[in-house]
Amino acid sequence: MKLSQLAESIPGSAILALGNAVKERIRKGEKIYNHTVGDFDPAIFPIPALLEEEIISAYKNRQTNYPLAEGNADLKETLSAFIRDFQGLHYPASDILVAAGGRPLIYAAYQVIVDPGDKVIYPVPSWNNNYYVQLTKGKHCVIETAPENHFMPLAEEIAPHIKDAVLLALCAPQNPTGTCYSTEQLKAVCRLVVAENERRGADEKKLCILYDQIYHLLAYQDAAPADPVMVCPEVRPYCIYIDAVSKGFAATGVRVGWCYGPAPVIAKMKAILSHVGAWAPMAEQKAVAAFLRNTDAVKSFLGHFKSRIFDRLQQICKAIRAFKEAGLPVDAIAPQASIYLTVKIDLPGDASVALLNGAGIALLPFSAFGATKSEKWYRLSVGTCRKEAIGPMLQELKNVLEKSREPVHGSQGRGGPYGSLEHSPQ
Ligand SMILES: Cc1ncc(COP(=O)(O)O)c(C=O)c1O
Repeated sequence: MKLSQLAESIPGSAILALGNAVKERIRKGEKIYNHTVGDFDPAIFPIPALLEEEIISAYKNRQTNYPLAEGNADLKETLSAFIRDFQGLHYPASDILVAAGGRPLIYAAYQVIVDPGDKVIYPVPSWNNNYYVQLTKGKHCVIETAPENHFMPLAEEIAPHIKDAVLLALCAPQNPTGTCYSTEQLKAVCRLVVAENERRGADEKKLCILYDQIYHLLAYQDAAPADPVMVCPEVRPYCIYIDAVSKGFAATGVRVGWCYGPAPVIAKMKAILSHVGAWAPMAEQKAVAAFLRNTDAVKSFLGHFKSRIFDRLQQICKAIRAFKEAGLPVDAIAPQASIYLTVKIDLPGDASVALLNGAGIALLPFSAFGATKSEKWYRLSVGTCRKEAIGPMLQELKNVLEKSREPVHGSQGRGGPYGSLEHSPQ
């Protein structure tokens, strides 16, 4: 059947496809340490108890009809206070839009800014920007970031591409790397955007920043991660923030996200999403509002949750660095935030084949995040990782790495780790 050009050209998510292929092998009985997932095992990392109670009680109280299309007023008031308390920024409820998680909001932001042929700058590796550019028929302007900068895109790398770009899509703390901007790095990026917009004429489109901070509550340094409007208030008219309960509260299936930014942009996003209808469910909106109003419950959950995630990331990072010290071909970037560790596995060919077939360890290659020059780098997620599985997993990893130093006879594995899938850059 002949369908639209978009339907013919849009691929499914490579990240989900790789993850699903691993899940299928697990379902068939293979023992795999699955570190591919950008999600949580609720048996290990449940949602906050108060949030769970509030969801149940909202359904019992028959909160089951349509919510307001742009988000219920009580939730938006609560979010305004949450943004003030946790980020130090003042956004009135009218400049906030609620939807069913981060995705519809990112989609709407692209739709209000990008016309066909418009240039969108985004770093690789990064999460899903390539698909959103394709959905809006924008022009891809890709920045291949470097391990020495923790894979964050720096102002000097963005600057040569900035003329005539309409959107700069940033994610910090970043998926897949688990790394953050320093204040100085982010300030330089924001100043670049402000200067470019001052240069543009009144009838030209401005350059906006889409700032996806869905992992910001999971930052492991003492201070909150750098934030565009905090480090450079002049960028406020051009900065759209994306956030959700999905990662910070291990609530990926609860489907409540929010975005805030310049009033004219948010107003148009509201109009677009009112037709898409990707609203956060009524009961979940009520429950998230009740939970976020209880600052003590939020802080107590985050303290405990973060320490359990960070503990895993650190343990794995430390072991990998010890392997490196012992001369094995691996490395890891110190985790700064999120549920991800950036790991280098310097084996010949595709290391995910050797790891999966030789050690039963599944990681996602940075090529699944659009990177073409970082083929030795992988994302290791701890969202479904049991503490007691870490030791055996590391031992398996060590065995494979040590074996790689022995002379090779014949092929290393039983074929592709993910069946017929290839690690194409999406
Ligand atoms: C960086 C980033 N932004 C947005 C999302 C989407 O979040 P949600 O599940 O709330 O739609 C994800 C999910 O993996 C993500 O990693």
